[in-house]
Amino acid sequence: MNIVLFGAPGSGKGTQADQLKSELNLQHVATGDLFRENLKNETELGLLAKTYMDTGALVPDDVTVAMLKERVSRPDTSNGFILDGFPRTLPQAEALTAMVVEMEQKLDAVLYIKVSDEEIIKRLSGRLICRGCQTPFHLHFKPPAKEGVCDSCGGELYQRDDDKPETVRARLNTFHTQTAPLIDYYNDAGLLIEIEGEGDVSEIKARTMTAIKSLKG
Ligand code: AP5
Repeated sequence: MNIVLFGAPGSGKGTQADQLKSELNLQHVATGDLFRENLKNETELGLLAKTYMDTGALVPDDVTVAMLKERVSRPDTSNGFILDGFPRTLPQAEALTAMVVEMEQKLDAVLYIKVSDEEIIKRLSGRLICRGCQTPFHLHFKPPAKEGVCDSCGGELYQRDDDKPETVRARLNTFHTQTAPLIDYYNDAGLLIEIEGEGDVSEIKARTMTAIKSLKG
């Protein structure tokens, strides 16, 4: 099974992917995490991506598509993948359509986690991320058992540079102008499933699992 988790920045894509990947035995592939990993390793790609990420803009399509293509071609995605943060533009969506055909696979669903901008601002202002395994936490909504330490791997928790209020506003604007048009694209393709994204993480996971089970028929 191959799924896209679609939604605005901070809508809970990473949180839900983390919940679903073990339950469904799928590989979680997040383009934002891939860029941050490149940045940590100071690769040319990471340094290029940072110049866009710091302003809330999208990294150019050609670079992003090439990186994603290489990642999903690795053997650990053979049972299927959950894409998080990709596609974000029409050319990326078209590239993904071509990519799954080339891999003799198909896309099963695009789960649109719908959350209001007000809620997103609350979520991103308190978000903490693990430097080791990238698991997201929240100062109030999902605090770690020990302050500053990841419950999953013991790594250090930090606040992302692009979670500053002015960058969050720019990221939301990028979502509404460049990414939201994909809602119609996937609706027309019969792949879009809207998930109400506000409420407890467990409630949203339950809604998502119900949607996925309905696909399996
Ligand atoms: P990326 O890392 O993908 O960021 P994003 O899409 O902006 O999404 P986030 O990771 O911020 O949020 P999320 O939806 O995963 O929410 P989370 O689960 O963490 O991209 C960063 C940048 O990289 C982009 O701006 C761009 O520059 C570049 N980039 C990436 N992909 C690209 C592409 N395809 N093309 C071009 N450029 C690309 O949750 C957020 C917080 O809320 C957490 O603290 C969490 O604990 C909390 N939370 C989650 N669910 C709930 C809930 N139900 N109730 C309360 N709190 C909750």
